[in-house]
Amino acid sequence: MKGKFITLEGGEGSGKSSALEYVKRKLDEDGVRYILTREPGGTPISEEIRSVILDKANTGMDPMTEALLYAASRRQHLVSKVIPALEEGTNVISDRFLDSSLAYQGGARGLGIEKVYALNQYATDGLLPDLTLLFDLDPEKGLERIGENADREVNRLDLEKLSFHKAVRSHFLKLKEMFPERIHVIDASKSREEVGEAAYREIKKVIGNNR
Ligand code: TYD
Repeated sequence: MKGKFITLEGGEGSGKSSALEYVKRKLDEDGVRYILTREPGGTPISEEIRSVILDKANTGMDPMTEALLYAASRRQHLVSKVIPALEEGTNVISDRFLDSSLAYQGGARGLGIEKVYALNQYATDGLLPDLTLLFDLDPEKGLERIGENADREVNRLDLEKLSFHKAVRSHFLKLKEMFPERIHVIDASKSREEVGEAAYREIKKVIGNNR
């Protein structure tokens, strides 16, 4: 594919959104051709699935149902938005992708990383990102940051206990061991500016002159 596919991953409050703002500004200055998107969501059908998954009222959701809904949302997002952009040479930056399913549903919910990986390979026809930035932060700090951000909507997964978020982090770090080439860890405890700059630098390495 002609465009590069870059994904951003991390726990709650890990600063992905602030880093994205920084990256966006820099890429615009560079004149890079790219789109920003997010999961779950990114297209009308996927956004509808997103609202079912994240609805605080859906307390009885079975973990496998959750994993299947994320995978369904991902499939639609890929087919209708990500792949067409990559094929025409546009770089795609997605706020979350498959590694979130591996860490949250596979790891923290206990379905097993292998099982959720297999499900996702089916959903994505095996497409993996060219680069994944993992924003790594102690969940206690992350949840604290969320608490300070009054505009941020609290969703069903935010309401999980600290132990859940700790499990998410440790599974994300396990994924770094499984995919050392693809996943790049960013120390998200640093200042906004430093985190943004680190993200931008890694993205530029992969995009290169692919404008
Ligand atoms: P969102 O509000 O987009 O969170 P954030 O700003 O932290 O990215 O909510 C997405 C939530 O869904 C988040 O808690 C992570 C979770 N998630 C999964 O559990 N599995 C997945 O496959 C994806 C994409 C997200």
